[in-house]
Amino acid sequence: MDIDRLRERLAEAGQSHLLQFWKELSPEEQTEMSQDLEGMDFKEISGFFKSAMETSSQAKQEKVDSRMEPVPREVLGSVTRDRESLKDWEKEGLRCISQNKVAVLLLAGGQGTRLGVSYPKGMYDVGLPSHKTLFQIQAEHILKLQQLAELQHNTKCCIPWYIMTSGRTMEATKEFFSKHNYFGLSQNDVIIFQQGMLPAMDYSGKIILESKGKLSMAPDGNGGLYRALGTQNTIKDMEGRGVSCIHVYCVDNILVKVADPAFIGFCALKGADCGAKVVEKTNPTEAVGVVCKVDGRYQVVEYSEITLATAERRSSDGRLMFNAGNVANHFFSLSFLRDIVNTYEPQLQHHVAQKKIPYVDTQGQLIKPDKPNGIKMEKFVFDIFQFAKKFAVYEVLREDEFSPLKNADSQDGKDNPTTARHALMSLHHRWVLNAGGHFIDENGTRVPAIPRHGPAGSVSPGVTQNLKDGTELPIKCEISPLVSYGGEGLEELVKGVEFRPTLVIDKDGLHQLVKNGL
Ligand code: UTP
Repeated sequence: MDIDRLRERLAEAGQSHLLQFWKELSPEEQTEMSQDLEGMDFKEISGFFKSAMETSSQAKQEKVDSRMEPVPREVLGSVTRDRESLKDWEKEGLRCISQNKVAVLLLAGGQGTRLGVSYPKGMYDVGLPSHKTLFQIQAEHILKLQQLAELQHNTKCCIPWYIMTSGRTMEATKEFFSKHNYFGLSQNDVIIFQQGMLPAMDYSGKIILESKGKLSMAPDGNGGLYRALGTQNTIKDMEGRGVSCIHVYCVDNILVKVADPAFIGFCALKGADCGAKVVEKTNPTEAVGVVCKVDGRYQVVEYSEITLATAERRSSDGRLMFNAGNVANHFFSLSFLRDIVNTYEPQLQHHVAQKKIPYVDTQGQLIKPDKPNGIKMEKFVFDIFQFAKKFAVYEVLREDEFSPLKNADSQDGKDNPTTARHALMSLHHRWVLNAGGHFIDENGTRVPAIPRHGPAGSVSPGVTQNLKDGTELPIKCEISPLVSYGGEGLEELVKGVEFRPTLVIDKDGLHQLVKNGL
């Protein structure tokens, strides 16, 4: 280790403070720190910092209202407004899957700070009757879909699962999958790779020390995907497998339809290179980004970037004009991703997230600030929409497909383990009702069918009024994805049958049912 050379490099980069505790470090700590520092491109990092800060201050000043247009109807497919096409889309999606053309890519590199657990979010158990983790639920969807495609097309197929992790989640994720035998998937078809990390900086561009011998590092945002796809040879792996479309989604949405054949089929039939699944934004002040066009190019516009007057504008059908709520669930063609990796990725700007970042002060004391003291730099997965040549938007029902796990239960009752658990069980309850099953209460009286879901954010119809952390649904019902991918195939199990909750339907079928009190 050439410490003098390192000192010089740091001085040139204005980061000399990083070695202020050098003499107090043990030889092992010194080796580790110098390795971390030697691997860093300070010029690049400082360039990222400058342009991220510039873009962020411009964005704060400028509203984009006058440059915005809503998604045109011709690029839009909707599960409610285009019901008659759903079967065709699904058929096309299953055909692509059966030909091994579809891969899924999971974004699982986040730190999950709001949830507050020390392990990757995918390992979280929200407290379903089965106690399945998010990873297991997703794995079982893949297994079931492979089976459905195989049945329809009479050929064996595989949906490779690419899992993007980060320095914060990689090892634990690998261990978890290995310990659970890849949940029945083949190890070769679960490809775990790692995104990059960037240092947290103070507002003057100085890298923050997390301890005397360690820099404060964070993953570079879910848009770090595009750099990682190149550096980790992921695109090459996809090419080698003959994949041509990729479904990208977030680890924390318990309702995610992994490799949703209808979404894939819709995008494929549209000839889209880039597609976004959206849910309807119904409340003008909901802080959700909306997919729209800005200066003729697709983009996600955050609530903070528009005026209230624009957020409140309505179309002639009474819906909000900018209502395509982004849920970070996307379709990409492989050739589009290849162009992004080879050409466009360096043009993507980092966004600035102001955070409370623990640091050691000049006295070597660890300080946990109570207000933001620095920034993390992140790219977003949707930053590449602007480069799409053919964009497609697919609107689905929030209550059927979107319930993210962001917060711990102790917080404000939104997007937490309780709401995620309720959303899943309430969806499965509706599947049973739709398939002709019934639920009875402890007196043997039929529980009336539940009404459709309420507005944004409400999870369980009929129980929203008592949706407090820890509150339970009157009907608990969980159906294994190995039994039904999206509500199909349940009639033979439930039609005309009365159930007393808790009802669990798993791959061993009926013996798990609590039927008529048995
Ligand atoms: P969020 O932005 O909600 O972040 O991620 P998070 O890490 O889950 O939670 P907080 O903000 O620290 O509380 C949305 C999705 O993007 C992934 C996450 O794993 C999640 O699936 N993500 C986020 C990455 O893959 N990499 C990142 O650098 C950031």
